[in-house]
Amino acid sequence: MKEIHLGALALLAMAAAVFCAPSAYAAGSAIPTYSHDIAPIIYQNCSSCHHQGQVAPFALMSYADVQQHAGTIAAVTASRYMPPWKAAHENGTFIDERRLTTAQIDLIQRWVKAGEPIGNKAAIPSPPTFASGWLMGKPDVIFKPDRAYHLAASGGDVYRCFVIPTDYSSDRWVKTVEVRPGNPRVVHHVIVYLDTTGKAAQLAAATHDGQPGYIHFGGPGVPATGSLGGWAPGTMPMTMPQGVGMLLPKGAALVVQVHYHKDGKAETDLTQVGVNFCTRPVQKKMNIAALAYPGLYIPAGDANYTVHADLPIPANVHLFSLFPHMHLLGHTMVVTATLPGGKTVPVIDIDNWNFNWQGFYTFKHELALPAGTVLHMTATYNNSASNPFNPNNPPKLVRWGEQTTDEMCLCFLLYTVDGQHLGASIAYSK
Ligand code: HEC
Repeated sequence: MKEIHLGALALLAMAAAVFCAPSAYAAGSAIPTYSHDIAPIIYQNCSSCHHQGQVAPFALMSYADVQQHAGTIAAVTASRYMPPWKAAHENGTFIDERRLTTAQIDLIQRWVKAGEPIGNKAAIPSPPTFASGWLMGKPDVIFKPDRAYHLAASGGDVYRCFVIPTDYSSDRWVKTVEVRPGNPRVVHHVIVYLDTTGKAAQLAAATHDGQPGYIHFGGPGVPATGSLGGWAPGTMPMTMPQGVGMLLPKGAALVVQVHYHKDGKAETDLTQVGVNFCTRPVQKKMNIAALAYPGLYIPAGDANYTVHADLPIPANVHLFSLFPHMHLLGHTMVVTATLPGGKTVPVIDIDNWNFNWQGFYTFKHELALPAGTVLHMTATYNNSASNPFNPNNPPKLVRWGEQTTDEMCLCFLLYTVDGQHLGASIAYSK
């Protein structure tokens, strides 16, 4: 576990709760209509990303929009490519899940087969409206780079780290974090690291391209001491449970790593991080640990390279959230927990990894793991030419590393220790 820095901690807590399909058509007989059946599904599950100025390539906000893409919509919902959500078989486990029910998928199929009938025009529900401000309300403090970043119109993806110093004279406890992308057309995902070494600021100072921050793929390029979450399309603010805080150490800098995906136009971005601090005594710290397999040695051409890693849990803990992380060859990652009595319970099952859709999976009910539990991870990689994301053509031997052409094998675990009672008082001086 040598080389493990707090790699990518992006927050993908996802939009809107799963909409329940109208049951009137459960028998599968009547013909679904846009006004009665399809509009509610689309507005609830798709429009948050599919509207003007957002990350998705077209809007799904009206009958005309949806009808124009009806064939593709039927295909991508049936394959569960949309809405994007990578955890399988876990319905009901995580908050803010984005999954259509089988009944909803079936309604879309039958609506398209029937020729996309609009139904009663007057009864089409109004499309959703989206808040333009902070979802968390007014933050206690907003961290942002001192100026905007200018992204060129063309070229490959950019991974830029912005360093934002803090000047608090004592440690602080963070209750809620919201990452707000400045320009969702080009911001693909964001990871917020913490650096107490000053090294990130040195990397930025040594960068002379006239822009804020520095370029780095993978982690932040410095040994991060923590994270404050992150953002990917659909992410909601992350709030700690009662009595729990994320530590913002005295003197730490935020290192905000933004993955930009160009859209063919010159763009600017100023991504911000809103934070609310805990106002009541903090009993437990939100910790981060990694279940990892650093010994990756993935032969060229191997379409099913498989690794296993175990992590024994020495104390009673509660698991709050998970953040699986691989690069472009990663294919699946399954984590289970074997409890002291021998019973095995599922933790997460990513059956079709996609680097572009990574994020936090936060449990609806924190998962209690007694001392003596062993977490098991099995991950698979496709390093053959059949993997469309393979960065090497022809495929090459790939090992652990931070570059796009390297690989990683990590599942970050956000957890609290049951026996911890810090009683940390909240009397922040400046
Ligand atoms: C969290 C954001 C998000 C949500 C929610 C979402 N989409 Fe998308 N969608 C995207 C992005 C980003 C793309 C373009 C990149 C890609 O294809 O992965 C996309 C692409 C698509 C495409 C084009 C696919 C292709 O291959 O051309 C379709 C069709 C689509 N979405 C339909 C839907 C439908 C229907 C829903 C709801 C059931 C939905 N999306 C929900 C973000 C989202």
